[in-house]
Amino acid sequence: MLATLEIEKTTVQQSRVTDVDFTNLKFGKEYSDHMFIADYSDGEWGKFRIEPYDLLHLSPSNTVLHYAQSVFEGMKAYKNPEGDVLLFRPFDNFLRLNISAKRMCIPELPEELFIGGLTELLRLDKDWVPDLPGTSLYVRPFIFATDEYIGIRPSDTYKFMIISSPAGGYYSEPLRVKIETEYTRACEGGTGFAKAAGNYAAALYPAKLAQEQGYHQLLWTDARDHRYIEEAGTMNVIFKIDGKLITAPTNNTILKGLTRDSVLTLARDWGLPVEERLVEVQEVIQAAREGRLEEAFGAGTAATVAPIDTIGFDGEDYHLPSVETWEFCNKAHQELDDIKTGKAEDKHGWIYRV
Ligand code: COI
Repeated sequence: MLATLEIEKTTVQQSRVTDVDFTNLKFGKEYSDHMFIADYSDGEWGKFRIEPYDLLHLSPSNTVLHYAQSVFEGMKAYKNPEGDVLLFRPFDNFLRLNISAKRMCIPELPEELFIGGLTELLRLDKDWVPDLPGTSLYVRPFIFATDEYIGIRPSDTYKFMIISSPAGGYYSEPLRVKIETEYTRACEGGTGFAKAAGNYAAALYPAKLAQEQGYHQLLWTDARDHRYIEEAGTMNVIFKIDGKLITAPTNNTILKGLTRDSVLTLARDWGLPVEERLVEVQEVIQAAREGRLEEAFGAGTAATVAPIDTIGFDGEDYHLPSVETWEFCNKAHQELDDIKTGKAEDKHGWIYRV
C-alpha cells in the first residue's frame, strides 16, 4: 500500500526533540520536527511531501480564512514496551475525515494517502512519541481550502496536512461542566457530526461564558428544546446511572467519537448494560439529586476518559461521588491506556503498528 505513495522528503538538519521537557508536557504547545503535505488541484491529490515543520505562506484572500472550509481529525500515537510506535484506530479516523470532508464540499482522500502520509511522518518523527504515563504524540490531520477567492463557492484547490504534537493530558483535573440551555452547538441538518473547523469557533463564546462562571466545559443540549444532553464539544459524554451506561446516540448533531465507541465496546465486553438513547437533562439531574448518578465522564481522543465531578444546571451545582470510587470509568481508562500502549491484548483490532 505504501509503495504506491511517492513522498518527497526534506528533513531537518538538527532535531528539536532534545529541547522538549517530556516530563512536563502540556497539550498542543510543542510540534514535532516534520509535517506531511499534499495538494489538491485539477481534480486530484498530488505533490506528496514531508518537510520541516514551519509557517505556511497563505494569500489573505485564501477562502478558508473567510469561510472556514476546513475539516480535521485527532488521533494519538503511543510506544509499546518494545519501543514500537502504535496508533489507535487510524482507519476509523480516516473514514470519519472523509465523512466530514463530504459535508463541507471538500474532496475525499484515498486511504493510501491518509495512512501512507501518517506512517511515513511517524516513522520519521518516532523520537517525538513520548512514553511516560499519560503522554502521547497527538496527531492532527487536516484539510483546508486554498483558492485565492472571496466569493462563496467550494474551493478548487486544497491542502491535506498532518502535524503532530507531544502532549500530556487535555484536562488535568475532574471537570466541572455546565448544561447549556441557551446557546446551541448543532442542529438537525447542520454540521454537528462533522469535525469541521467552524463548529469549534462557534462554540467558543458560550464556553467562555461558562468558564467565567468557573466551569471547564459545556454539556450541549439539543437545539430545539434544550431537553436532551448531546455532547461536550471536546468529547462525547457518558453517564452511569443505576448501574447502566447511558449516552446519546451519534446522529447528525453529535460527533461519532472513537473513544466513545471504544469505551462502550469495553463496557459490553465486561457485561455492563449500555443504553444509546436520548438522555434527558431532567433524568440526569434527578439521578444526581437522588445519588443514583454514579459516574459521568467525557470520552474523546484529546480528553481520553475525563471524569466529570460537578454538573451545573439552572444555577445549581450537582456533585458526584469522589472520582476514586468510580469503578467503570477508572477501569475503562486504564484498559484503554493499556491497549493503546501494547500492554493489554488488542481484541478488537484497534492498534496499527507504524
Ligand atoms: C480531539 O479530541 O482529537 C479533538 O479534536 C478535540 C479537540 C478539543 C482537541
